[in-house]
Amino acid sequence: MTTLTDHPSVLLIVGGGIAAYKSLELIRLLRGAEIQVRTVLTKAGAQFVTPLSLASLSGEKVFEDLFSLTDETEMGHIELSRQADLIVIAPATADLLAKAANGLANDLASTLLLASNKPALAAPAMNWRMWEHPATRRNHAQLRADGMRFVGPNEGAMACGETGFGRMAEPEEIFAAIRAYLAGAPEPRGPLAGKKIVITAGPTHEPIDPVRYIANRSSGKQGYAVARAARAAGADVILVSGPVTIPPPEGVPVIRVETAREMAAAVDAALPCDIFIAAAAVADWRIAGDHAEKIKKGKKGPPDLKLVENPDILAKVSQLQNGRPGLVVGFAAETEKLVEHARRKLARKGCDLIVANDVSPASGVMGGDENTMVIVTAEGVTSWPKLDKDAAAVMLVEHLVEILAQREGF
Ligand code: C5P
Repeated sequence: MTTLTDHPSVLLIVGGGIAAYKSLELIRLLRGAEIQVRTVLTKAGAQFVTPLSLASLSGEKVFEDLFSLTDETEMGHIELSRQADLIVIAPATADLLAKAANGLANDLASTLLLASNKPALAAPAMNWRMWEHPATRRNHAQLRADGMRFVGPNEGAMACGETGFGRMAEPEEIFAAIRAYLAGAPEPRGPLAGKKIVITAGPTHEPIDPVRYIANRSSGKQGYAVARAARAAGADVILVSGPVTIPPPEGVPVIRVETAREMAAAVDAALPCDIFIAAAAVADWRIAGDHAEKIKKGKKGPPDLKLVENPDILAKVSQLQNGRPGLVVGFAAETEKLVEHARRKLARKGCDLIVANDVSPASGVMGGDENTMVIVTAEGVTSWPKLDKDAAAVMLVEHLVEILAQREGF
């Protein structure tokens, strides 16, 4: 059997999720690379894999109980946490992450994480709604800020039959992340590491009745590109998206909504954040009343639809008395008097920066792949060249990094 001293050693915490079966393969990969694996099986984890499977594959005793007299006399939990070079949590359930983020220590796994002087790498696995829940988002951001590394989750089919973001990374990916850590490779950290950014994107759909709606021509491409660029710069990004047909950016949880009011509620739930970027083309109005039944054609002629104003998400976030994001960015899609309208919007909404776009039909911006951004702040106006939406997004994110860097405290 391998000894502790001559090979790297991993303490693997197996949480309670169906993905626990993949941890068996992970152990096999680690053992194949001569990495010692000690396992800790949570009570919930034991519902999915047996201690015998873990012991057989790891060739080591499996630890399950904080208050086990025999375990504690053989190797106390403090020693167990200290002897590993790295603690790996796979699957890392919402519960394990919540405990770790809040410093709870009411079972062996959470106590080890709290007692450890070693870094931890988590491979989250949970239903996509659990992953996207503001509580999990907060815990994730806190753990990242505390130095925990993450691999995944990935998007894909889940055991519950739903598809989304929350599938555990494949054993090979987790193995690669462990190897990279053990080899001393730094975690890729961008200039926005540790910053949380909430971005709205896409159109909203405002129902006329259960089958009809009012919409606009926004494709969501620019907002999604900004989310990708912010993620690539190391930020924790939450994307609140209206109905679009483009794939979610990698590593970014997407909260899907239809109406302006749903978007407003999703943004509320995603706050607080460091930067808020309102790239969505939110419908300014919705149809008054409720729309439970389909409106029928009849002798009375076309329906008399009354419009009422939607909540202005950007204005509300910009004007928050408590917990206003440090930087609030709006977009202004205009067909005429671009700068003049953008300037007024900056003042009226109270945001820090407006990205103005000419969306007149001749510009091809709405639904197209290119954009010409005009940056309007209280200090002045800067026009950027026509760029593809990804490049424009990277430029915008770099600009935001510069603004933050210029401010004291960043
Ligand atoms: O007022 P207008 O729609 O032109 O303002 C555009 C900016 O305001 C965009 O950033 C858009 O995302 C945001 N907005 C919003 N909620 C609304 C209307 C616009 O957040 N109801």
